[in-house]
Amino acid sequence: MNVIDEICAKAERSGELAPAEIVELLAAADGSALMLAADRVRQLYVGATVWLRGLIEISSYCRRNCCYCGLRRGNSSAARYRLTPDEILECAQQIKAAGLGTVVLQGGEEGDARLGELLELVRRIKAETDLTITLSLGELDFAAYRALKDAGADRYLLRFETSNPKIYAALHPEGTLANRLECLRRLKTLGFETGSGFLIGLPAQTLDDIAADIRLLKELDIDMIGVGPFIACPDTPLAGEPGGSVELTLKVMALIRLLTRDTNIPATTALGVLEPAARRRALQAGCNVLMPVFTPQTAAASYQIYPGKAARRRELETELAALPTDLAAIGRVPGYGPGFRISAMQNER
Ligand code: 5AD
Ligand code: SF4
Repeated sequence: MNVIDEICAKAERSGELAPAEIVELLAAADGSALMLAADRVRQLYVGATVWLRGLIEISSYCRRNCCYCGLRRGNSSAARYRLTPDEILECAQQIKAAGLGTVVLQGGEEGDARLGELLELVRRIKAETDLTITLSLGELDFAAYRALKDAGADRYLLRFETSNPKIYAALHPEGTLANRLECLRRLKTLGFETGSGFLIGLPAQTLDDIAADIRLLKELDIDMIGVGPFIACPDTPLAGEPGGSVELTLKVMALIRLLTRDTNIPATTALGVLEPAARRRALQAGCNVLMPVFTPQTAAASYQIYPGKAARRRELETELAALPTDLAAIGRVPGYGPGFRISAMQNER
């Protein structure tokens, strides 16, 4: 066995790797053994089901100024919109009607300004659809997180973006890595299923940094793990930068599956934007979640975190109708249930 195969076998067997071993796999020219090992561990721990989560991008307003993101406050060329509660509820009804078990409400960070409206919205969605509710609305204070939990929210996504404090500080004019991690701990304390993740291919990010990112996910015991390539966005300070590659992203996803075992890992949109076939490859390299976009088309066109995001979106109905066949071709089945992080046996499809 060569060194790469040995490290893959160790990861598959034990779920543990030292940082230097992670870096060795990330640097290897051929990631195929790694991806096959991740696919086996995925089958063993979370089964053949690919959980579907319906995504609604509820607002493109953001108070923050993250250097990589097209929705940053300083981007005056970004189109801004806010869906009304009725529009959001209508999308949630469509998600329910399509048979999906989870709605994800994502938006720029708006703080407490809209909290009252949000609480009412969460209560209405729960009462009228009984969907599992995931929120992805950035950093809020403890009281706001608690109120959202009490209103019926089940999960919260908050990527830490990078575990390197210097890179974090350079790319986030406001907010600190320490506060971001504190938010994640609070969310866990409140009983949210918690999602996090990071960007791959940020300027100055090394493979050592990515190994630290992966280990941090494990240390925080994150339930849902979203990672994607950084894609340079015009009208941002990082316009024209190279960005992350498909191959490195797939290796990272595979390593995350090997080292975290039973987590939920989406085949993220950013990967599909770089290469349409890459999301299927991600499902064969450890991923087990897809997040079809239910944002109304007019608004979705304005939700440009990075270029190509909205443009590449396939017609939703065609996408959903094709899913069972597309997934069957790779030995998988769509999951319409809530898809919590529990053993494959306990989760109802
Ligand atoms: N390329 C890829 N992903 C991005 N995000 C923000 N900007 C970009 C970009 N330029 C990701 C961040 C954020 C998520 C909603 O989108 O990781 O958490
Ligand atoms: Fe706002 Fe999120 Fe974009 Fe940062 S990454 S500018 S918080 S939408």
